[in-house]
This record gives sequence, C-alpha cells and structure tokens, in this order.
Amino acid sequence: MFIPASLVVIPFVLLGANLPWADAQSTDATCRLASLQWAQNSAKQSPCAVASSLRGVCTGGSYTVQSLPPGSVYLGPSIDTANGCECSTVTYSLMSACALCQNGTVATWKEWSANCRTVSLSTFPSSIPSNVLVPGWAYLDVKTNDIFNPEDAKAHANEPESSALPIPTSSSSTSFSIPTTSALSQTDSDSSKSPRDSRRDMIVGAVVGSILGFLFLVGCVLYLCHFRRRNTLRREASTDSLPPNSPTSVSSVEKESVGP
Ligand SMILES: *[C@@H]1O[C@H](CO)[C@@H](O)[C@H](O)[C@H]1NC(C)=O
Repeated sequence: MFIPASLVVIPFVLLGANLPWADAQSTDATCRLASLQWAQNSAKQSPCAVASSLRGVCTGGSYTVQSLPPGSVYLGPSIDTANGCECSTVTYSLMSACALCQNGTVATWKEWSANCRTVSLSTFPSSIPSNVLVPGWAYLDVKTNDIFNPEDAKAHANEPESSALPIPTSSSSTSFSIPTTSALSQTDSDSSKSPRDSRRDMIVGAVVGSILGFLFLVGCVLYLCHFRRRNTLRREASTDSLPPNSPTSVSSVEKESVGP
C-alpha cells in the first residue's frame, strides 16, 4: 500500500518532457543599437529572438531570423507561407524592432502584408510557446499609420507581456476537462506537422500526468483510511486486553500508535 516516490515525480517529468522547449529561438541577428534596448523582453531576449519563436509557430517548425543586410528590409511572408500568424501585426512589429535594433530600416505594414489574404490586427492568432514572453508594445496598432512606430512602442515598453497559457497542473481538477479523444484522433490523422505533434505530446503528457496524479491522490486517501482503520482496530484490541481502570497505560498505547 506504500506509494513509491517515483510515482509522484513521473507526472511532472512527463509534463516537463513534453513542454514545447523544442520551439527554440533561432536568430543570427545582433541587436547592436543601445537606443533600442527597451525592445528586449523582461527575459532580455531581443525582438529578433522573440520573432523567431513566433514565426516558428507560424511556419510549423523552427524559423531562423537572419541578420539584416545593410540597405534591405525584412519582407513579409510569400503567398505560400502567408497565414494569419505570419500576417499578424505582432509578427510584423517584432520583425520591425528587430530591423531597427540592427540599425536597419522597416517595411511598411502594406509591404509586409502584401501577400496576405487574412491579417491579424493586434493579435497573435497561434499559441505562444511556453518559453516566450511577447512584449506588450508588439500589440500596438500599426495599420493606421501603415508603419511600426518605435517612439510609440518605446512609450509602451513596460506594458504587460503575453505568454503561453499556464499548463494545468496534474493535481488540479481542471486538467480533466482536456478534450482527449477528439484532439488525439484529430492530430493522429495528420501527424506530419511538428506543432501539432508537440501539442499532441503536451496533451498526452497532461492526461497521463493527470491520471497518475489522480491515482496518487486515491492511493493517499486509501492509505490514510487503511492506517486509520488499523489504528482503531489496534486501539480497540489494546483497550479490550487492558483492565478497565488503567488510564495511564491506555494513553501510553495511544501515544505509541499515533507516532510514525
Ligand atoms: C547606423 O546607420 C547609419 C547610416 O544609416 C550610420 O551613419 C550609423 O553609424 C549606424 N550606426 C551604427 C551604430 O552602426
């Protein structure tokens, strides 16, 4: 009836192993302008690094933000890769700050979104990887003036950051509401895409973690019940065998059985 310690650890290991750390940041751009330091997030990641994480989500893999050659601008997505995620003003704003911090110039929003059929204004439509903090200034309006405005962004440098939704812990009851069957069968039907894979892994990890966590709790309750019943039985047995008027010996038996 004893619960091995490994059972307690497993859910957390499973959850940890399936966190999308794999969506690594990838950029060889160096932000060398000190005047653009405000564009870093609170984890001291450059807008180029944050952009590479988000664009990895957009393109379903990893995305390297190349350093910007002098005299050029970062172009928006091609017709093939244009989606609501690449065509988000958040992606555009981060790429713009990335260009500026390399002492480069910025494309207009129209230029960036030239190949976009759907655009996302001030939202990032895909899920943010768990190790990424997206600065609040990346959500500012850029459509009205058709360009990223670094002064406006700097003025909003301390806005709250956006991050991944918290992953439910194994012991909380909300983790049981994960739509297991539908999500699993849906991702099984096309498992070639890596973000779906990592999401499926995450769901599997959460479900397995939840089940193990639940089993652990049940085990604890059973163990406590068992322990209490054995105590009661033992106490009854010992009081039966003792003479009725001997309070000192009863209390000493109780003390002994309460101890670990
Ligand atoms: C940034 O570029 C300008 C020319 O566009 C140049 O004069 C300036 O020295 C550059 N600054 C840095 C820090 O590279």
